[in-house]
Amino acid sequence: METNIEFREWSDERLPEVLKAQALSFLRIIWPEGFTGPNRFRDWTSHPDLRPHHLLYAAGSQLVSHLEIITTTVSVGSESYVVQSPTAVMTFPAFRGEGWARRLVAAAVARIDAGQADVGVLTCGPHLADFYSRAGWEIAPGATILAGEDGSAQISDDILLTRSAGPRSAAFKASLREHPMRVADEW
Ligand SMILES: CC(C)(COP(=O)(O)OP(=O)(O)OC[C@H]1O[C@@H](n2cnc3c(N)ncnc32)[C@H](O)[C@@H]1OP(=O)(O)O)[C@@H](O)C(=O)NCCC(=O)NCCS
Repeated sequence: METNIEFREWSDERLPEVLKAQALSFLRIIWPEGFTGPNRFRDWTSHPDLRPHHLLYAAGSQLVSHLEIITTTVSVGSESYVVQSPTAVMTFPAFRGEGWARRLVAAAVARIDAGQADVGVLTCGPHLADFYSRAGWEIAPGATILAGEDGSAQISDDILLTRSAGPRSAAFKASLREHPMRVADEW
């Protein structure tokens, strides 16, 4: 049995099936609403169109902690922005409180900062806002998110946090004080 926990990263296409299956099962249990109706047999963690890049800790084939960075376009006011966002952040219960997620979020920050996105964004429940603030994310107070196309928009209750990554970050953050962030689908 492998007990050495190591950091690894993969593009979505190269993520080993055994690790993907564990991340997917975790999501199906903690986020059941993402796996209903037409998504009941969904076999992806984030939609492949979002080009997920997986950062994780694993002991051999056993997944310990996982995060993936997706890339997409959102609009705020009349402008569109390319954003990168950490999502599917998870640590299996036996390994919680040991800093695995904190280290993965730090690795995600480094990757987003070095990448081509206009800005980093993430959403989380209110109880995790401090965790992400300590990891270098900035709470966007009162920001609203509209998800869905063609008037079927739904307002998410989650807190929105941003990470300045490119020269348009300041404009994005300023605009977010006036307008909701519109996304085609929640991720
Ligand atoms: C949230 C989660 C990923 C944290 O993983 P972890 O590896 O235990 O996190 P870390 O050990 O790096 O802890 C990071 C910090 O977050 C805090 N934290 C973790 N879970 C928390 C919770 N449920 N409520 C409040 N704070 C929490 C810890 O206290 C810790 O703070 P500290 O460093 O000041 O002690 C893990 O609890 C999990 O998988 N939860 C279920 C899935 C989930 O909610 N994912 C987040 C989606 S945004």
